[in-house]
Amino acid sequence: MGRGLILGIESSCDETAAAVVERGARSLSSVVASQIATHLRYGGVVPELASREHLRAIVPVVRAALAEAGVGLGDLDAIAVTSGPGLAGALLVGITYAKALAFAQGLPLVAVNHLEGHIHAVLLQERESHVSESRRGAPDREESERALALVVSGGHTHLYLAQPLDGTWRYSLIGRTLDDAAGEAYDKVAKLLGLGYPGGPWIDALARFGDPRAVPFTFAQIKTKAHLGGKAPRTKGAKTAPIAELDPHFLFSFSGIKTAVLRYVELHGLREEAASRVPRMLAVGKPPKTKEEGLELCPQGTLDLIASFQHAVVGDLLKKTFAAAEAVDAERILVTGGVAANRELRDRFAAEAARRGLRVAFPTLALSTDNAAMIAAAAWPRFVAGNFAGANLSAEPSLVLGGQGTKEQEN
Ligand code: KG4
Ligand code: ZN
Repeated sequence: MGRGLILGIESSCDETAAAVVERGARSLSSVVASQIATHLRYGGVVPELASREHLRAIVPVVRAALAEAGVGLGDLDAIAVTSGPGLAGALLVGITYAKALAFAQGLPLVAVNHLEGHIHAVLLQERESHVSESRRGAPDREESERALALVVSGGHTHLYLAQPLDGTWRYSLIGRTLDDAAGEAYDKVAKLLGLGYPGGPWIDALARFGDPRAVPFTFAQIKTKAHLGGKAPRTKGAKTAPIAELDPHFLFSFSGIKTAVLRYVELHGLREEAASRVPRMLAVGKPPKTKEEGLELCPQGTLDLIASFQHAVVGDLLKKTFAAAEAVDAERILVTGGVAANRELRDRFAAEAARRGLRVAFPTLALSTDNAAMIAAAAWPRFVAGNFAGANLSAEPSLVLGGQGTKEQEN
């Protein structure tokens, strides 16, 4: 083995990303080409456009990642690629390119689950800060502890128990959403309020200027599995794993709050106001930083609505995550995925963890949203174990991570 350099490639949704990571612990580069501009006017990801944009971006993004890392293809030890879950056509672009590159260079190919990647974003971040603090690359005590991971993004809201055993990470699913992901709720609420896409950063910025207790949104407890009536959950994210064995206390549902916001908007005659905001929002281009800028975009009542929505969503994530951590006797909590970039979420999780004497860790903001450094980092233990993908590797849009409940499973 050379320096232990893995080139990671990620194309599961609307970001084309490549990164070079050394021994799963130090990223030498991380390049992300966002398709936000392409999907902006549709207010969501259009799969066909995503595939086309990945095709356009993949070669320059990989070249940029190698150049930024100061390495050539000949210096690499392996290529890692996201094999699922995600959009089939989007995943295929990364997989096909990674396969061709691995074959041409005679390098092993490692397949990575996108959700495992998000979890490893936190671990990579921790290793990087340890490396810089003490020049030690070895994983320390923290990594062998039982961790409860909340993966919360535009496509997922999942709780996993994560723990390494003899160098292999094992995951068991503890909870998840039955319908929309939390990030999806952010994006849909932002769209109906005439805010930018993706909605998370806009709502995050505007919520600071509103009263979080102005509108009392609530989440009903999902009572029993019978409540589901044996029906298959509706969304892409929810399809990825069965729910029958999960404790209903750790199930999420975010479609209700989206409808509640919609009703509030209609009841209070805010529809026109929202529509008139679109051109102003587009002209501003990015979320406001000061209260004055916020008020130029939204009246106080709308700021209060936004703050109340966020307060309720974060409160629900917090309550169920800490309850799950207690139930599985986790020693620490990892929060990752695009919504983990949220300021209120970070503050409230940190405060609650301190109150309970638990530790909580987040990735940097850049590592929270989709990137390829997390894919290369997650590939490292698989590479060391010789766990390689075959030439028949294909896209798995509904790929599941880990076993369920108490059945811990290597993935
Ligand atoms: O992890 P990610 O980049 O892609 C997926 O795998 O989905 O997450 C994107 C999601 C979007 O729904 C976006 O609105 C949300 O993360 N997001 C945020 C914030 N930044 C991004 N949600 C809340 N607050 C933020 N600051
Ligand atoms: Zn993601």
